[in-house]
Amino acid sequence: MRVLVAYASRHGSTMGIAQRIAAELERQEIPVAFKRVDEPIRVESYQACIIGSSVYLGRWEPQAAEFVRTNAESLSRRPVWLFCSGPVGTDHVDKQGRDALEAAQPKEFAEFADLIHPKAEQVFYGVYDPARKDATLAERLIMKVPAIRNELPAGDFRDWDAIESWAEGIVRALRPTEVGAAAEA
Ligand SMILES: Cc1cc2nc3c(=O)[nH]c(=O)nc-3n(C[C@H](O)[C@H](O)[C@H](O)COP(=O)(O)O)c2cc1C
Repeated sequence: MRVLVAYASRHGSTMGIAQRIAAELERQEIPVAFKRVDEPIRVESYQACIIGSSVYLGRWEPQAAEFVRTNAESLSRRPVWLFCSGPVGTDHVDKQGRDALEAAQPKEFAEFADLIHPKAEQVFYGVYDPARKDATLAERLIMKVPAIRNELPAGDFRDWDAIESWAEGIVRALRPTEVGAAAEA
């Protein structure tokens, strides 16, 4: 079995989450191919796929969404887990009282649920560094809008325990327990 871990990460924090997921699979002796979504990737080479992207203005990075749409048929025939890194801050409910992670689901998750029937779609807390030198011009302009700027507290809010336990759940799904395997034999 070989598992694809593919990601799109504008400023590196989503890549860090993808790395941690890949490391957890490898620790459990599951071979992993670790790639950016815009590298050449043949989905048919993998028994399962984990695909993640950062979220900006409610959307996955376009190259990640394009990867899923282009490979939808192959992805729909194997177990796929999707994730994103998005919300920043320590509030677990948003202003409307909704669960912060539920409310931060990118628009693509509903589309992909219908398109490829993923095993799970998970939002993780992300990172925001207002002092970063590599902010794009569009990001600098957007950050001048007070309503957006005030929604983005600075810091690294990635929840490594949540990320690792999500990866452990994938390992359990990929590797039937010995009891389960014996029952199937
Ligand atoms: C201009 C801007 C817009 C953002 N929009 C959203 C958003 O709509 N939803 C969200 O959950 N996070 C949003 N974020 C937070 C980022 O998704 C978060 O910082 C993420 O961890 C960045 O990942 P990356 O380092 O891989 O690019 C935004 C951040 C910036 C700077």
